[in-house]
Amino acid sequence: MDFIDLKTQYAALREQINARIQAVLDHGQYILGPEVGQLEERLAAWTGARHCVAVASGTEALLIALMALGVKPGDEVVTTPFTFAATAEMIALLGARPVYVDVEEDTANIEAARIEAAITPRTRAIMPVSLYGQPADMDEINALGARHRLPVIEDAAQSFGATYKGRKSCNLSTVACTSFFPSKPLGCYGDGGALFTSDDALAQAMREIRVHGQSGRYRHTRIGVGGRMDSIQCAVLLAKLERFDWEVRQRATIGAHYDALLGPLVKTLAVRPDRTSVYAQYTVRVPERERFEREMKARGIPTAVHYPLSLHQQPAYRAGWEGRSFPAAEKLACEVISLPMHADLDEAAQQKIVSAVKASL
Ligand SMILES: Cc1ncc(COP(=O)(O)O)c(C=O)c1O
Repeated sequence: MDFIDLKTQYAALREQINARIQAVLDHGQYILGPEVGQLEERLAAWTGARHCVAVASGTEALLIALMALGVKPGDEVVTTPFTFAATAEMIALLGARPVYVDVEEDTANIEAARIEAAITPRTRAIMPVSLYGQPADMDEINALGARHRLPVIEDAAQSFGATYKGRKSCNLSTVACTSFFPSKPLGCYGDGGALFTSDDALAQAMREIRVHGQSGRYRHTRIGVGGRMDSIQCAVLLAKLERFDWEVRQRATIGAHYDALLGPLVKTLAVRPDRTSVYAQYTVRVPERERFEREMKARGIPTAVHYPLSLHQQPAYRAGWEGRSFPAAEKLACEVISLPMHADLDEAAQQKIVSAVKASL
């Protein structure tokens, strides 16, 4: 059994994907070819954001967002410690400091009520992560941002396809960053990512930063990066969008089914009633995780841990946080484990996984 089955998805979309890739090979515009603009238009329309800027990866999207917002050495960005390292990594890379705020134990997302206490005169942005595919408390976070005149960056690397109060993730804040890493809910066949905003000036800045800060050919008006997304990767996503709505519905159904079957057995994560998760990961909490992992493996079920340490415990990110505790993040880091999750997971496979969970506890 695959943890994420990309082969069945490819089989269902083979003709469309092959034709789209062939079209790029035929026209030969591998960099910033027509597929890039087409994808940006489709994704902007899909999310409702005014602008989409396709970039080289989710990590690059975070970097470009922070650069466009002017984050510089000595600044602080408030974020969660319970996330993939890239969230804090891009803040640190710019010489700024990630300031951690603990998460809610039941959703694993940043606890909005704790953010205000972390804001200082050096704070330049708030960066919630929509972890495992569920948006954080965006209304509360945006209200805080407005009150303190701080932009809000949604790290939506895992949540493309989710909704919050009927609105799409990636259209919930000043700017949003997503990832098209192959295993993500909308994944290409290599690295890819995108930025979303409805702020025209910010979109222009992000477009310039993506191509070495150029406002015109060889006119470098700001410091940028080489952060473009390839035409071939955009072509793959254009084909994948053809069944993406179905995949989002499938993921919701499979996630709800897991909840119903596993709820009596293990601690599942809560999805708030005013939002949906796209279940980039379907994650539960178990005691004795190492033994559980081994038992699942012995029964032929792959699992993964997202993430085994909170960032304030990671060698590269713990400086300045020694002696500080983020109890919910630390507890989750010890207990979380993700089960196979993808749109093509059928009823029989799900039953097999649930039986294995029951036997492995
Ligand atoms: C929360 C989060 N942020 C950022 C990233 C980085 O995205 P990418 O792998 O496309 O660079 C990821 C990817 O795993 C992620 O999960």
